[in-house]
Order: sequence, then C-alpha cells, then structure tokens
Amino acid sequence: MKLSASIVLLLASTTTLVSSIDLLSWDEAYVKADKLVNEMTLDQLADITTGRGLFIGKCTGTTTATTNPDFPALCLADGPLGVRGTPFASAFPAGITIAASFDKDALRERGQDMGAEFRGKGAHVQLGPAMNIARVAKAGRNWEGFGEDPFLSGVAAAETITGIQSQGVIAAAKHYIVNEQETNRMTHSVTIDDRTLHEIYLWPFARSIEAGVGTVMCSYNKINGTYACENDRVLNQILKDELDFKGWVHSDWLATHSTTKAVNNGLDMTMPGGWVYFGGALKNAVKNSKIEITRAKDMVRRIVAAWYKMRQDEGFPSIKMNTNNGLQDPGIDVQADHAKRIRQHGAASVVLLRNKNNILPITAASGIKKIAIFGDDAGLSRQGNNTSCSVVSKCDKGTLIQGGGSGASNVPYIVSPLEGITNRAKELSIEVVSSISDGKIAKATSIAKTADVTFVFAKKYSAEMSDHSNLKADNNVDKLIQAVANTNKNTIVVIHSGNAVMMPWESHPNITGILWPGLPGQETGNSLADILFGDINPSGRLPITIAKQESDYPADVYNKFEFEYTERLLVGYKHFDAKGIDPLFEFGYGLSYTTFDYTHIKVHHANNTSTKVSVQIKNSGDRDGAEIVQAYISYPEAAYEPPKLLRGFEKVFLKKGQSNQVTFQLGKQELSIWDVPSQQWVVPKGLFRIHIGASSRDIRQRASFHINS
Ligand code: NOJ
Repeated sequence: MKLSASIVLLLASTTTLVSSIDLLSWDEAYVKADKLVNEMTLDQLADITTGRGLFIGKCTGTTTATTNPDFPALCLADGPLGVRGTPFASAFPAGITIAASFDKDALRERGQDMGAEFRGKGAHVQLGPAMNIARVAKAGRNWEGFGEDPFLSGVAAAETITGIQSQGVIAAAKHYIVNEQETNRMTHSVTIDDRTLHEIYLWPFARSIEAGVGTVMCSYNKINGTYACENDRVLNQILKDELDFKGWVHSDWLATHSTTKAVNNGLDMTMPGGWVYFGGALKNAVKNSKIEITRAKDMVRRIVAAWYKMRQDEGFPSIKMNTNNGLQDPGIDVQADHAKRIRQHGAASVVLLRNKNNILPITAASGIKKIAIFGDDAGLSRQGNNTSCSVVSKCDKGTLIQGGGSGASNVPYIVSPLEGITNRAKELSIEVVSSISDGKIAKATSIAKTADVTFVFAKKYSAEMSDHSNLKADNNVDKLIQAVANTNKNTIVVIHSGNAVMMPWESHPNITGILWPGLPGQETGNSLADILFGDINPSGRLPITIAKQESDYPADVYNKFEFEYTERLLVGYKHFDAKGIDPLFEFGYGLSYTTFDYTHIKVHHANNTSTKVSVQIKNSGDRDGAEIVQAYISYPEAAYEPPKLLRGFEKVFLKKGQSNQVTFQLGKQELSIWDVPSQQWVVPKGLFRIHIGASSRDIRQRASFHINS
C-alpha cells in the first residue's frame, strides 16, 4: 500500500540525492539465503545468531564469522542519529528534530547520509531509527524518536529506513514495542489492549516493514506480562505473521531472558550475546528437540537474507570502527560533505513559536545595531574529536545538540549558536555581546539594557536510563529569562530540547519571540542563524504538544512494575482535543515569515480504497517560503476514534504570490481502524470529515465524504 499523500505539483528541491543501491527483493534474497543456510552446521547457525558478548570487538554488537560456507561477523552499531563511539563521523539532527521538518525529502536525505557513514565505517547494521511514541512528555528517550503521532512517526521511520538502506546498510526498527519510558525499563510490564497497540504503537513499525527494514530490535519491557523478546503475540503473531516481516528480530542489549521460549516465540539473534541463552544453550536445545532445527535455520535465513537483500555480499567495506584513544589509527573519515545538509535540515526543523511585531527576521532594514546573547546553552561545551555522550559522562554543559546515552553520536565539532549568530551579524555590521551563563543574572540584565534585541538560550537535557521528574528547563534558566525580559522589550527565547518544556514566562509582554530548534546536531548555530536572519523562511512544526501545565498531559512516568495505558487512543493532541484542553502550542504548530491562504477544498472521489482531496494553497505574504499542509480526518462516530487524526502532510514551497494545488490520496491504510474481533484493518462506513490546515488546531478548510461500502 502507498504511504500517505501525494502532491500534484512541482516542489522545489534544493538537494541532490546520493546514488543508491538497487536492493534485492526479499524473494530474491531468500533464494540466495536458502542455499547458504542449507550448507551450515548447527555450530555455524549458533555463531550467526549469537553476539560475542559485551564490549567485545569495536562495534556495539558483533557476531561470529563462519567459514565454509563463509559468512562474515556482522557489526551492529549505535545509533539513530549517527555513528557512535568512533571519530570522524557526523552528528545529525535527532529524530524528534528531523520529524519537526515534516519534510519527507529531508528525512530520506538524512537517512542516506547516515547510511553512507555507517557503510564507510563497515557497520552492517545501524541501530536505528527509534520509533517509540512520545506517550509521556517526561520520558527520557522521546528525543530519539519522531514524536507523539503514529502517522508522522510512520512516514519518518519509513523515509529514514529507505535512506539508510539505500546505502546497503541494514536499518534496525527499535524498540519493539511499547518501550515508552525508561523507569524500570528492564522489568516493567505494559498492559495494553489490542486496538491501541495496533493503531498507536505498532503503526510506525508496520510502515517500517513496508519500507523493507532488515531487522527489528525487541525492547526491554514486558507486554501484557511477557518480555518483548520472548513474546509470541508481538513477535510471531503480529510481526512475522500479520505484518509478514521477512527480516530478523534481535534483542536490545541484555533483553533476552530465555532460550527455548525466546527462540520459539520469535527471537532470531541475541545481543550483545555471550553464551548464556543462545550459543551453546541454543545448540543443546536443538539437540534435545526443544527447538526444531528448521526454526534454527529460519533464524539464520532471516539474517542472511537481509544481508543479501542489502547486497552486503558485494564488496561491503571491512569494519573500521576504531576509537580515538591514542592509537595510531583512529579510523576512516566518513563525514564527506554531510555538514551541508545537516545545516539545511537543522534550519528546516526550527519551529518558530512566536514572532510578535515581526521582530524576526533580523535584516539590514530592522534597524538593529546590537544583539545580546545569554545562557549556557548559547555557548560551547565540547569540541573537537569528542566521543559520544555516554550515560555516565553527561554532555549537558554548553549548547545542547543531542541527548545522552546510546542514542548519542560522535560529535566532530559544534558551531555554537553564539558563533553562528555572531558570524552572520557581522555581515550586517551588528554588534553581538554576550554572557554565557545561566546564573549570572545581574550581569545579563546590565548587558540586556544596552541591546536592541536579546536572545536567551534554554535547554533540557535528556538521556537514556532516566526519565524527567518535571518539564522545567535546566539550571533554573526561567529566572534568567524572566530577568532579561523585565529589562529588554525584545526578548527572544530559544529552546534546545527533545521534550516539551514548560514556559512560565510565556505571557511576559517583552517576550516577542520563541523558537524551538530541538536538537539540531553539529551545525546548530548556523542552522539557527539561517532562520533568525531570514536566509531561510521557517517551516518547522511541533511533532509534540506543548501543554500549558504538566498536569494537562494524558500520561505520566510510572514507578511501578505493571501499569496500563489507560488513555488508550488518546495520546498527545488526541487527548487535548478529546478533553477540550487548550495547549500552549499544539501539535503541528509553527510560524512562517510569510502567510498562506487555503481555498477550494474539493473531494474528488471517496471510497474505501482511494479517496482524493485537494486544496489550493497561496503564498499571500511578501516572502518566498514553505508551508506544511496537514490533513486530519475524523472518523464516523460509531468508530470511536479520537476527534481527529493526522493522515497526510506535504511540504509545499511557494514563491511569494504563487499558488498551487496540493492533493491528498487517502488509501485504505489512512481510513482504516483496527477491528479486534476480525483481527483486520477495516474502513468504517459512514460520514468522514477532513480538516486541512496549518496545525492540528489551525484548520483552514473542511469537507466531508461518505463511505458506503
Ligand atoms: C540499549 C538501548 O536501548 C538501545 O537503543 C541501544 O541500541 C543498545 N543499548 C546498544 O547500545
């Protein structure tokens, strides 16, 4: 089935795609895999499915090579935003940030560039993308995924995977499934109903499988009482039977809990391994007839088929995941010119939340002579050949470009916001003064008095293995923001975070601008300057809801070993819509320096397999720019769906005065709900409404259609 909507006009494309590898189909790959696997001994089957152990080899996880027949040791490497733990690799925008671009080309290009870097390092598998849903605003790993909406996450996951795998690198869809908080992450059990599981949490994984993903990582937690990596329902029944997943399932690190149960219930590879549950134990289980030899072969066939599918048998580079720990050979430089697109994608993902009196962009005509910059987040913390931010060595000093833990990448350099803004301001002969500290409030206010406009930088650092206890910005920076706003009538707040952050100062009359660039990667300062000075017109949109207060969110982190997803389908904006709660900034929200008019909505035809709706978009302002046109649908009442769901989006670039038609094709996938009794996706009969607009709450055109059969 085709994904999402299509657009009937020529969109401006500013980038060229890297050449991509012509992948084999699963059928072609299985023919080759069958041949190889049929020649293998039980020892060899065990070698290929068992990781060699924690911290063995240069990769995050490594298997053992076989000879006669020959199959290489596979290198599985973190993480979802770039290569981790080896120098000369790029730091790309985080998942939550690229999701904010709502730009399919950008998502795919980032995937391609990351894939090229993993390939260059000889990593067979990139351990990403992460596609868990930001169900809980305080969850520590929301920044690795694509936000709170399954449809957006599904498109983002599929585009990322297509990009990564176009380089012949196997992508890993993770963490399967309902791994939405870090607290008790290796022990908690999520109680969830089948419909919610399918419509919210499975959706991005289903789109990943359609995109041909090679491997799926099962998660730490339990689902309805059974660990994900030995859960027959989620692995065999849903992933392999219902979704027809042909690749392999590997465990998250130390998420395997058994041999026979895990293997018979669908686990194909254990990571990082060691010989506890697989290896010798697997061989014994086969010898004792607890595991059929056909199943052992099926495990390996899935791995080998994915390897053939990506054509890794045709000259895939050798492993060069060297570390820079004083050895002579720090490995290969794989960065190429990726910095260029990192900068573009960072800019495309900046969300402009407020722009009172058109304070932005800053141009020669703005009359601004002096800019003041405040906050620890504006400056540099770490530079040069830094290895990744681990869980223990937090990278929460200076400007925040990514989170911490296994989702962090190597950081080759950082162009700080201070540097990016200063360089660009020079071209306009604007003076930049600064105080890069959250605590020196008196110093900041005395500087703020002298400036025409001030920027206060705030951040919220998130990392693996820790959820947040609140949504306040770090270091009590709210005090600094308030103090600067009390002093300077043009105070602009910039927030680097992968989580929603509460904004207690938001109604201050002097806070004329608010920007949310998320976690933009190494070019952060340049990406931001491109937006602030109007070189690029902002078009980023929030992939999460920013609430007025923490208690407005539908779910919290539970410090329990068993809990239910009681909000069911009401995740993110669906909850705010259903309960009539006004958010501070809603899902899909973001401003531009120009304006767009929406007219002429038209439903061309409607039936249960293909519905076509178009709308006319005009750039009615005085600047060229891109609009993110969003299509939400409301289901017939009897379907008991949330008030509206995102089911299409398109980024449309229009020159000032230009207009064009955007068309959304809604297929069976976009119109279906999961019917539990029949265990199928079905299109409910009745009246559907379609809402097309610039955010989930800024609906500009409405129409309805009936589906009768
Ligand atoms: C645990 C994390 O959950 C996963 O995302 C990561 O890939 C592995 N550790 C390996 O570092």
